[in-house]
Amino acid sequence: MTDKTENMIELKGVTKRYEPLTVVDNVTMSVEKGTITVIVGTSGSGKSTLMRMINRLVPVSAGHISVGGRDIMSVPATELRRRIGYAIQGHGLFPHRTVAQNIATVPQLLGWDKDKTGRRVDELLNLFHLDPGTFAGKYPHELSGGQQQRVGVARALAAEPEVLLMDEPFGALDPVIRGKAQDDLLAIQKQFGTTIILVTHDMDEAFHLGHQIAVMSEGKLLQCSTPEKILTEPADPFVQQLTGTSGRALKLMSLTSLKGAMEPVQPGLNHALPETLNLRDALAEMIWQGVGEAAVQDANKVPIGSISLQHLLQLGRKA
Ligand SMILES: Nc1ncnc2c1ncn2[C@@H]1O[C@H](COP(=O)(O)OP(=O)(O)OP(=O)(O)O)[C@@H](O)[C@H]1O
Ligand SMILES: [Mg+2]
Repeated sequence: MTDKTENMIELKGVTKRYEPLTVVDNVTMSVEKGTITVIVGTSGSGKSTLMRMINRLVPVSAGHISVGGRDIMSVPATELRRRIGYAIQGHGLFPHRTVAQNIATVPQLLGWDKDKTGRRVDELLNLFHLDPGTFAGKYPHELSGGQQQRVGVARALAAEPEVLLMDEPFGALDPVIRGKAQDDLLAIQKQFGTTIILVTHDMDEAFHLGHQIAVMSEGKLLQCSTPEKILTEPADPFVQQLTGTSGRALKLMSLTSLKGAMEPVQPGLNHALPETLNLRDALAEMIWQGVGEAAVQDANKVPIGSISLQHLLQLGRKA
């Protein structure tokens, strides 16, 4: 197949039938290399089935899927498994293998030597803030849910896959650890340039992580576009309903950087905000500090602009 190389994953007319049901119905979408696509949708809408067709755990009934420009049916299963990591909620770790052995599973299958495997295990444990000295030799039951989850993701990443499929990977985590795990994932995705498809039921997670969001309902892909478009131009009443109208303005604000909305520098401001904040966080910060106006600073704490509460609220209302 001769797909455009910038698209790491291409789905064309992908369909899955469990007679008499069609659980994934003629789905066509592209995922650009090095981006995160988040799939959302009601329970039973076909999200997991769609993902499992990409790594051939579920055979397609009709349509074509390519990864890295090659039809998945033309790639040997072992190669596909090396190129595509898969992380699922909750279970998945081998209970009788240590953390290090769990993470080393795929590298061992691929015949990596002991040193290379060991270095990779340590690197991943460090990346996920799990001290190798403490955690490498532990068994899954000795870890908290959040730690198990991180080991699961580390294992999926171990053989440096180009593509990572994650089915509700953070579902069981409390909000604080979940936020941490999301940030870890973003950092890792940037560092390795991994192409990720992630399923979640949490719309905030979808907007936080997704370069594009795919909305599914009853097997159909209703819309697949940027978070901004999903909010401002929902293709379907269901999409609008799912993303919620109440938190809409705030969600939009969270997608805009303070730097992009600031006004000219003003002398004599006592409060300062970093340019990297998004508008939602800037608003929260100003309300919290009780200030009507603040300077905007770059990384060296040099003022590069200013922002007023009034202006922020106006931007929110326009959204
Ligand atoms: N092996 C199977 N045989 C028959 N039907 C199946 C099979 N696997 C899934 N289904 C059906 O396909 C539909 C889609 O299931 P899928 O697991 O993809 O949904 P989902 O969107 O991931 O849901 P959830 O959000 O609850 O995880 C469901 O109606 C399910 O019952
Ligand atoms: Mg599912």
